[in-house]
Amino acid sequence: MKSTIKVMTVVGARPNLMKAAPLAHAIEKYNDFGNYSTSIAHTVVHTGQHYDKNMSDSFFETLGIRAPDFYLGVGSGSHGHQIGRTMIEFEKVLLEQNPDWLVLLGDVNATAACSIIAKKYLFKVAHIEAGLRSNDWSMPEEINRIVTDRISDLLFTPCRFADANLEAEGIPRERIRRVGNIMIDTLEANREKAGRMDVTEVIARNLVEHGEGGGPVNPPVLSGRDFVLLTMHRPSNVDRADVLKSLLEVIVRISRRYPLIFPVHPRTRGKISEFGLWSAISGEESLIITQPLGYLEFLCLNMYARVMMTDSGGLQEEACMLGTPCLILRDNTERPVTLVENGGTNRLVSNEPEKVIEGFEWAVEFPREERRPELWDGHTAERIVESLVEASFL
Ligand code: UD1
Repeated sequence: MKSTIKVMTVVGARPNLMKAAPLAHAIEKYNDFGNYSTSIAHTVVHTGQHYDKNMSDSFFETLGIRAPDFYLGVGSGSHGHQIGRTMIEFEKVLLEQNPDWLVLLGDVNATAACSIIAKKYLFKVAHIEAGLRSNDWSMPEEINRIVTDRISDLLFTPCRFADANLEAEGIPRERIRRVGNIMIDTLEANREKAGRMDVTEVIARNLVEHGEGGGPVNPPVLSGRDFVLLTMHRPSNVDRADVLKSLLEVIVRISRRYPLIFPVHPRTRGKISEFGLWSAISGEESLIITQPLGYLEFLCLNMYARVMMTDSGGLQEEACMLGTPCLILRDNTERPVTLVENGGTNRLVSNEPEKVIEGFEWAVEFPREERRPELWDGHTAERIVESLVEASFL
């Protein structure tokens, strides 16, 4: 007789979706295989932390994930609002559905909120992307990671640094499974398609025109690797007017040397408006401002960019895999495996203007060459599914 394992996955924000997709596909594959005495019943809960089409729905479409089974509609707001409402709404779904495993991804507010609720009711929790540590307690994500790791039953790690962090914190070894980086499964599945896209068309489709806050109406035609790609949204870079202003000034300086494409995150857009800083960047010929891009569109730009500048976590990893020299606009990273000194393509430059410029001089000369940390092979989700099934019968 076939037994069924009930697995529930939670997504909340954009970076969860690139990780949820391969897991959903690997579960479908496991069920379709037909040889097993076990099947997996999979449900997906979306907390609704990200809700714009281009922050959420477009990723479901592009990555072929079916619509969530439950949508909690938490929306934007303070940490208290997001975490509190997620807990209240998630508790109802969790108790009604009664899964064997709750699978949580990454380090967003949904991850921490749902892990706490699940453990209070003694559900089994598995955390994908466990063990990352920036050791920077000013990052909301660091708190989310530590809380979730501390109470998870299974910790799926992407690299040896993550294993070492967990062991140093006293997490029992038998809970840790090094499986590789699940987001790279999505990259491997999509890179060919993204590589066939045209950079100039991607920009034209997503351009934000003057009226909406700057950027040339007719961007330059781009070819080859002759552009820089920038994203930033971390509170440490955008929540203070003086810091954001000096970063925008550096961006303008760099864009005068190489066309610079800047897909603006909603949080950053809000802060630029709040601080009255659009005038610092609008009208710059080669500073190309776009709305947040779709998954394939951004991957395409990452594949062809000469230099990436970012404060994102996932983009550090994607840049490393693709070989794009990448400047991290932070003082620390929870992803040291992507750093140049550890065989990657990333360099920490902070948000200080002179350090960014110095890093830029290094990056433009850095040869593009793919780097692949151990187990970042496109098969992480399959290893996770096998491991979940195995652990279900322990
Ligand atoms: C969240 C994650 C962060 C991740 C980032 C990726 C936490 C603590 N932070 O940060 O780790 O790197 O997502 O994007 O979970 N907004 C919209 N539309 C949306 C979503 C947000 O306009 O669909 C605006 C709202 O004004 C909102 C602001 O963006 O207040 C910030 O969104 P929020 O979800 O609070 O945090 P992020 O900065 O996106």
